[in-house]
Amino acid sequence: MLTGRPVISATGLFTPPESITNEELVASFNAYVDRHNAAHPEAEPLAYSSVEFIEKASGIKARHVMSKAPILDPDTMCPRLPERPNDELSVMAEIGVAAARQALERAGRKPEDVDAVLCAASNMQRAYPAMAIEIQQALGIEGFGFDMNVACSSATFGIQTAADYVRAGNAKSVLVVSPEITSGHLNWRDRDSHFIFGDVATAVLVEDAAIAPAQHWDILGTRLKTVFSNNIRNNFGFLNRAAPEGEGTPDKLFVQEGRKVFKEVVPMVAQMILEEADRLGIDPAALRRLWLHQANAGMNRLISHKVLGHEASEDESPTVLDTYGNTSSAGSIIAFHQHSDDLALGDTGLICSFGAGYSAGTVFVRKVA
Ligand code: COA
Repeated sequence: MLTGRPVISATGLFTPPESITNEELVASFNAYVDRHNAAHPEAEPLAYSSVEFIEKASGIKARHVMSKAPILDPDTMCPRLPERPNDELSVMAEIGVAAARQALERAGRKPEDVDAVLCAASNMQRAYPAMAIEIQQALGIEGFGFDMNVACSSATFGIQTAADYVRAGNAKSVLVVSPEITSGHLNWRDRDSHFIFGDVATAVLVEDAAIAPAQHWDILGTRLKTVFSNNIRNNFGFLNRAAPEGEGTPDKLFVQEGRKVFKEVVPMVAQMILEEADRLGIDPAALRRLWLHQANAGMNRLISHKVLGHEASEDESPTVLDTYGNTSSAGSIIAFHQHSDDLALGDTGLICSFGAGYSAGTVFVRKVA
């Protein structure tokens, strides 16, 4: 007998084996700057990047990537992921499948018992067929799948969508998969942002409480919010083309007004969390852990302080940003995946994402076993 109460049964994570340190990244960027300045003596010289700035401004020390050598090659400075024939699993689906398999294993769930797959990420590698349907097929899941994109908030928007299917009785088991190959939409030649992103894939299995494994997380409430802003934007689309090798049209890659994002998003998210906690009758100061979106360590410090009423410890608001960089929608899920096993029965926490749109999503959860 289904309950219509959504829970998180398990999560999964795929981490690309290759990683780039700030030192490696800056050495390559500065080599590019030297070459560019030598080749364009008439132009305003480009400035060097710095390891110290990156760590101080963002908290990022390294990032995993799918294609390290071409990103670090000053003549290329973008990933090179060879196109695959249509009858081969595409790369985004491949890493999504790896994360999804882990979530299924951890839940003890067979693919045939899953009803739907949502591929929720900030970029899809093609228009159609949906990545979600390819992942669904690769896993051997019946039912349906579709893609959704709410930039950095894609995973929490996916969790609410999945939870709503469970609440409505339209599904009992839904996989929310977030493969984020962010290295493909980052402008590695842009000093202001070349250090921001990293690649990863996460999966969250949202299920009806009636079929969930003994160890799971009750979803106490979900809330979504969007407010239009141009301060984080990527104009790439099928009516135009990506910047070839960084020349010509850099706005077809990720661009942002980082300072404005910082100033505008922090209060918006903190207020949203407090309002939603109030609506759910949860004391925000008593939250055991915050698994926040991983974009900037300073933003997370400010948000967690406003929510908890004191400076959060690493235990209260864990960071994965230092080794993963900003992994767009996957960040808060990586934090949850890696830092939730130690919580006790009855502990309450918050998964929260925020980013382009602007968009923000909250998922309050309570550990059941
Ligand atoms: N190396 C060295 N110096 C750099 C640099 C780099 N790679 N990039 C920028 N700088 C310099 C700037 O030129 C500027 O110099 P100036 O003061 O002499 O003009 C100075 O550092 C400060 O630049 P600023 O852009 O104001 O830095 P910041 O402290 O705001 O940090 C971000 C930049 C992007 C890390 C930060 O704004 C941020 O994380 N914002 C939110 C990002 C976010 O959440 N995005 C959402 C995506 S999901």
